[in-house]
Amino acid sequence: MQPFQRRNDMILQETWRTGHPTRIHRLSRSTASVTDTPLLVANRTHMTFTIAIDGPAAAGKGTVGRRLAARFGYAHLDTGLLYRATGRRMLEGLDAVEAARSLRRTDLDAPGLRTPEVGQAASRVAAIPDVRQALIDFQRAFASRSGGAVLDGRDIGTVICPEAEVKLYVTATDEVRAGRRHSELVAAGEDITYDEVLQDLRQRDARDSARAAAPLKPAGDAVVLDTSQLTIEQAVAAAIAQVLRVQGG
Ligand code: DC
Repeated sequence: MQPFQRRNDMILQETWRTGHPTRIHRLSRSTASVTDTPLLVANRTHMTFTIAIDGPAAAGKGTVGRRLAARFGYAHLDTGLLYRATGRRMLEGLDAVEAARSLRRTDLDAPGLRTPEVGQAASRVAAIPDVRQALIDFQRAFASRSGGAVLDGRDIGTVICPEAEVKLYVTATDEVRAGRRHSELVAAGEDITYDEVLQDLRQRDARDSARAAAPLKPAGDAVVLDTSQLTIEQAVAAAIAQVLRVQGG
């Protein structure tokens, strides 16, 4: 069975009737943010398929998301980068809400976004409702883009894309996540201990879970993927299997 088959049927029916797919309604037109990007330009003849991946810090969401995107030919958005870029600009002295509202596509490619310091700043700005609001349109436009999209973050299945066809909640024990993140950071040249990484993750997870605005939690209809005992290949295979199940393949 071809990818998109179920969604195709629905979208094409709607397209014949109305001239454009109805899922376009998911694009809110209120406050455009993340400027200088063609992603906000809606394609009215496209077909969509959204994979939403949520979970705590360093659980493997990014790896699973990138690999799913490559496997199915979809675009991938690491939404943590939006908050990291906003947090970084706050550390430079900007007001957090202003930073989010004026975020540009190129800010997501800035160096240094992966450091623990920027991660903490990201977690802090992410608790501000107006910051989250400023980033919603960009994420929903990305999710609705032609050809399928994978988004990973904390609130993708619950708030950004509650209608996503596939929802995964990727998790692992604190110790496993800290070990993986520590190896990554050391490989990237960071001078940081395992214990510091563990404390950093726990602090962020606690803040991200306890905040009132779009807290970290699995969507009611998410499939939980605990990667504690899995290799990357096994985790990716499980995620691919879930997508294929939904697509009827
Ligand atoms: O995925 P990450 O570790 O790069 O995210 C950094 C912080 O950004 C995270 O601690 C919480 C916040 N975040 C969020 O609140 N919502 C998202 N969809 C993605 C990230």
